[in-house]
Amino acid sequence: MNELIEKMTTRHAIRRFQKKQVEEDVLQQILTAGLYAPSAGNNQYSRIVVCQDSEINEKLGRISRYMMFKDKDPKSVSHSVSADQPSIMDDFTIMNGFYDAPTVLTIFTRSSQYSHDDAAMIGENILLAAHFLGLGACYIGRTGEVFATEYGQQLRKEWGVPEDMVAVCNILIGYIDGPIPSSKPRKEGRIIRV
Ligand SMILES: Cc1cc2nc3c(=O)[nH]c(=O)nc-3n(C[C@H](O)[C@H](O)[C@H](O)COP(=O)(O)O)c2cc1C
Repeated sequence: MNELIEKMTTRHAIRRFQKKQVEEDVLQQILTAGLYAPSAGNNQYSRIVVCQDSEINEKLGRISRYMMFKDKDPKSVSHSVSADQPSIMDDFTIMNGFYDAPTVLTIFTRSSQYSHDDAAMIGENILLAAHFLGLGACYIGRTGEVFATEYGQQLRKEWGVPEDMVAVCNILIGYIDGPIPSSKPRKEGRIIRV
């Protein structure tokens, strides 16, 4: 198998991070990978906000967790996601939905029929780049809901995000704490040859 493709099969969602911050030259390489993602019609309109302020990241992570469960009993909606790298669905005592990651990216794109496509392309490039450089990363959804809150609105103003943009996803990045998780088996029958 091609070396890069083989490497892609060993990428995992990482939720246990060391406190150590991502080094700047490593971060720059990861961001470059994000900027080189495809965009619909080459619009290149997205913004990647890099936040390394632990107070802000924790606040956002708590809101993200809240948005997952809202007024529901976590037990009624939970399911097993990862034994090695437990998510808020596996362990209800985790209160920060950003898992204390030292670097949190928020990807904003212009509101259009392609918003989610453009952002997800960037997200995947970043997840893979982090993995290739020996770091861990995790894609987080519900970002639109988080940035629709009063706190989210205030932050996006402070960050200078243009008003016609929507927050699509967060990417958590950091050095992996503990053992590298094992690969989750992929379900059979997902390729349909015609
Ligand atoms: C659209 C999307 C939303 C996700 N949201 C979350 C999330 O809110 N919290 C979380 O811990 N992981 C989240 N993940 C990560 C998935 O749980 C993870 O990719 C999945 O369990 C498969 O594991 P793997 O990435 O190690 O292959 C999300 C992934 C995607 C693609």
